[in-house]
Amino acid sequence: MKTLCLYYTRTNSTKEVMESIAKVIGADVAEYTDGKDRSGFLGYVGACFATVNKTLPKVSVKGKINLKEYDRVIIGMPVWAEGPCAIGRALIRKYKDSMPAEVYYVVTHMSGKNDYMAKIKAMDSLLGRQSSGQVSIRTKDNDYVKESVSFAETLI
Ligand SMILES: Cc1cc2nc3c(=O)[nH]c(=O)nc-3n(C[C@H](O)[C@H](O)[C@H](O)COP(=O)(O)O)c2cc1C
Repeated sequence: MKTLCLYYTRTNSTKEVMESIAKVIGADVAEYTDGKDRSGFLGYVGACFATVNKTLPKVSVKGKINLKEYDRVIIGMPVWAEGPCAIGRALIRKYKDSMPAEVYYVVTHMSGKNDYMAKIKAMDSLLGRQSSGQVSIRTKDNDYVKESVSFAETLI
């Protein structure tokens, strides 16, 4: 099964998570972005605004990636302001018709209080069908690489 792991990242945690998953299952990895520099405090503030803005940002996948070549796509994205970030939601909406039958969501977050599963599953309305699986991984005070590997092992 040919799998593509896609990620958006601001501070590299989601990148690390998706690269760990890809290593276990032998997947390709690619980054997607809206092209905005979101480093530092101003980048953090911009991320908050992007999340509450009703208009989703314009996104693209870096490199020469043809989604139609894959049997499975795993989409990694961080939580911003209590839900999957706008960049990830924009990716799903833009590419939903090119996505293969199997689509998984991997969402990273900092808080230990909430796993955001209801909001993660709600992204199926953007996909237009049911995703094949979802996981919510906490990145603060947690061995998130180990958790990523455990999730990946369920996909083999
Ligand atoms: C603007 C912004 C809002 C965030 N809001 C939340 C939140 O509501 N809950 C949470 O648990 N983490 C929140 N986070 C933390 C990130 O989801 C978490 O650190 C994530 O793992 C970062 O992934 P990255 O390193 O790939 O960018 C927020 C981060 C940013 C930048």
